Amino acid sequence: MKQRLTRRSMLAGGAALSAAPVIAALGSGGAGATQHDHGTVGADAAHGHGGHNAGRYHGHAGFPQGSVPPERAGIDPTAILRDFDRGTTSTLPDGRTLREWELFAVDRTFEVAPGVTFDAWTYNGRIPGPTLWAREGDRMRVRFINGSSHPHTIHFHGIHPAFMDGMPGIGEERGGGSIEPGEEFTYEFDAEPFGTHLYHCHQSPLGPHIAKGLYGAFIVEPKQGREPADEMVMVMNGYNIDGGDDNEFYTVNGLPFHFMDHPVQVKRNELVRIHLINVLEFDPINSFHVHANFFHYYPTGTSLQPSEYTDTIAQMQGQRGILEMRFPYTGLYMFHAHKTEFAELGWMGFFEVTDA
Ligand code: CU
Ligand code: CA
Ligand code: CU
Repeated sequence: MKQRLTRRSMLAGGAALSAAPVIAALGSGGAGATQHDHGTVGADAAHGHGGHNAGRYHGHAGFPQGSVPPERAGIDPTAILRDFDRGTTSTLPDGRTLREWELFAVDRTFEVAPGVTFDAWTYNGRIPGPTLWAREGDRMRVRFINGSSHPHTIHFHGIHPAFMDGMPGIGEERGGGSIEPGEEFTYEFDAEPFGTHLYHCHQSPLGPHIAKGLYGAFIVEPKQGREPADEMVMVMNGYNIDGGDDNEFYTVNGLPFHFMDHPVQVKRNELVRIHLINVLEFDPINSFHVHANFFHYYPTGTSLQPSEYTDTIAQMQGQRGILEMRFPYTGLYMFHAHKTEFAELGWMGFFEVTDA
């Protein structure tokens, strides 16, 4: 609690002045105001002259701001955006598709903000881990090898037997439960129900095992498929850099401010489908807001009928859903957490809409 108060008072005090341009950018002016401020923001942002834009917007006391070039950071949120791993496929005797993956836990350090490193625990060396994609009813087989320095598991959301649940203490007699460093276990279950899900480590203490980076998206496509779209995954997370029980940075797909410098490229009028997942630790609620547009929202992606038509949704940790929208106009459109503090600490970006 003390840490939290410290950070929040820092934010209220020291950063007040430098945060002013952010508030302007987040206000009614949005991308338009940003464009006026910077003149050439469109070109700069599109071509990613790293940190240039974000550097102008921010300045949270005590931590540098701006996005680290992906190759230096070790995380590339743009690459993660449309990277759906469908596994190695084969056909089972009963005619169903078997999909196989190999996931390994490995400790890795990332430069998440200029000069700021984060000692992470990861699946496959990335944050978030690979986005696993299956079709409803497929058999999924995930071989998990723990090459990390701590015991871990993979706990999948979805429907499966207890011993496949990645819970320490459950299924140990069958090799499951807690997977010690150097050990491995193969999770196997049917892909159900269709929807947008997630997986994460369920070792205790659970907070750090998630906050250190052990999570990823897991998508089950309905049997009948969905309307073709420009499909992408956005995993919302945070980084606790200095200990305590709070985050100093917030991101989509692992790198603060990345999509400010590398806007998500979309085509005018094309259907955009975003699988949005909140794994944020420490803070109870995260949110997503898009400027100058509305989207249909499908909570957990488990229904083909949207529940809401809106421009802002909230998710608690573990909640996720599908957003579908089309951009009728070209230009730069901001998206960000509608919790201003999270936005200012990295959770903001742009869509850049162009004609085909
Ligand atoms: Cu773990
Ligand atoms: Ca902290
Ligand atoms: Cu969970």
